[in-house]
Amino acid sequence: MMDIDIAKIPYIKTEIPGPKSRVLLDEQRRYETASVTYPRSFPIAIRYAKDSLIEDMDGNIFIDWLTGISVLNLGYSEFIRNAVKSEMESTWHALEIPTEARIEFLKALNEAFPSNMRDYKTIFGISGADACETAVNIAHQVSGKNAYTIVFEGAYHGVSGGIIAATYEDKYKAGNNSPGFRVIRAPYPGILWENYSVDDVIEYIQTAIRENDIDSLLVEPILGEGGYVVPPSGFLKALRKLCDDNNIIMIVDEVQSGMGRTGKMWAFEHDGIKPDIVCVGKSVGGGIPMSLVYYRKDFDDKLPVPFHLGTYRANPLALAAGREVIKRTPAVLDSVRERGKELLKRLGEIDSDSIAQVRGRGFMIGIELGRNDKPLDSITMNKYKKSMIEHGIIMHTCGHYGNTFRFMAALNIDQKLLDTGVEIFDKVVSTQW
Ligand SMILES: Cc1ncc(COP(=O)(O)O)c(C=O)c1O
Repeated sequence: MMDIDIAKIPYIKTEIPGPKSRVLLDEQRRYETASVTYPRSFPIAIRYAKDSLIEDMDGNIFIDWLTGISVLNLGYSEFIRNAVKSEMESTWHALEIPTEARIEFLKALNEAFPSNMRDYKTIFGISGADACETAVNIAHQVSGKNAYTIVFEGAYHGVSGGIIAATYEDKYKAGNNSPGFRVIRAPYPGILWENYSVDDVIEYIQTAIRENDIDSLLVEPILGEGGYVVPPSGFLKALRKLCDDNNIIMIVDEVQSGMGRTGKMWAFEHDGIKPDIVCVGKSVGGGIPMSLVYYRKDFDDKLPVPFHLGTYRANPLALAAGREVIKRTPAVLDSVRERGKELLKRLGEIDSDSIAQVRGRGFMIGIELGRNDKPLDSITMNKYKKSMIEHGIIMHTCGHYGNTFRFMAALNIDQKLLDTGVEIFDKVVSTQW
C-alpha cells in the first residue's frame, strides 16, 4: 500500500470477498466459533492497515469509516505503531508496577479532563464492559449498599457478568444467564420512533427514586450502539440535578463518545456537567486493549484493597499507544467540530427517500434509514450494507432496528477520503432497493 494516490481510493479490483480473503474467511469458519459477528458485515481478510485505509488480502483498498468501532480515533497511525515498537524495547508486561509510560499516560489523562476534575483518581481495566462494571461497583462501595442503578433504553455498556443487566437489547443477553446488577430502566429522550421528552424521562426517574433504593445512575451522553442518538439539550444537566438532589452517584459512560469523538475530549463537556465517575475505553489505548474508570478522589477511601483485579490491566504497550493518542487528540478537536458540522449538513442534504433522520455531534453521526414513517427492514438494510462495502467504504450500523448507518471515521482522516466517502454514501442510499 506504499505511495498510494489518495485520489484513487477506494480501489476495488475483485468481488467482495476476493479469492484470497475467501480462503482465510473459510479457514476462520473451520476453526473459530460460529458466533463471530463482524466478518458477516465485513467479509474481507485484512492484509495491512494505515491511517484511514484498510487493504484486504486481494489488494482492494477500503476507506475506513469504522475505526474498529471508535477504537482508532486517530487511525492506524505511524506514531502509534512507533510508540508500541519503542515500548517493546523496554517491557511489555509490568502488572501495576510503574513505568515511565504509565506515569506519562496518567498525567496526560488527567490534563485531558476539565480543570475541576483534575483531582480525580484512575483505576485501569481492559474492556469497556470491565470499566462500566467497575464503575457501578465503585458506586456500591461508596454507598455501602447493593442498591439499584438507573440505566436507559438503548444503552450498551458491555456483556460481562454484572454489567450485562445495564445493557438494553435482549439479543446481547441471549448467551448470558447472569442476572447482573439490579437496575431500573428509564426511557432515553430523543429516540426517533419514541420521542420521550426530557421532562417525561425525569418524571419517570423521580417516581422510580420515590419507590426504590437507588445509589447510582449510568448514562451514555450520546447513545452509541443504541443508534447515535443525541439527547435534547438539558438532559444531562437535569440528570445531574436529579442525582445531586437525591444523593445518587452519576456515572457517565464515555467508552464510545469519549476521546474526542464528538469534537470535545468528552461528550459530557458539551453540557457543562461534572460526572462523579467516567468510564473510558476503546480509543484510550489507541487500539491496544485498555480501559479505565476516572472517579472522584473522595471515593478512594471507600475502596477495599484489593478491589478490582486483573493480570493484564494497563499493559505497557497500551499505555504507550494511549499516551500518544491522548496527547495528540486536543489538536484535532476544532477540526472535528467544524468538519462534523459540515458533514452533518451534507449528509442531511442527500436526496433519498430512504433517509428518515440525520443526527449527531462531531464525528459521531447517525443516518437512520426508514420509509413511510417506519424503520427500514433488515433485508433491505443488508442490501445497503453490502453495497457500501462493495463500493469500498467500511461503515457499520447501529440502533434498535439495526437501520442506522453510523459515521465514526478517524478524527484525523484526510478530507479527500471524507469527500469521496460522502459521494459514495449518497450514491448507495439513493439507490432504491
Ligand atoms: C458506550 C459503551 N460502553 C461500553 C461498551 C463495552 O465495551 P467493550 O466492548 O470493550 O466491552 C461499549 C462497546 O461498544 C460501548 O459502546
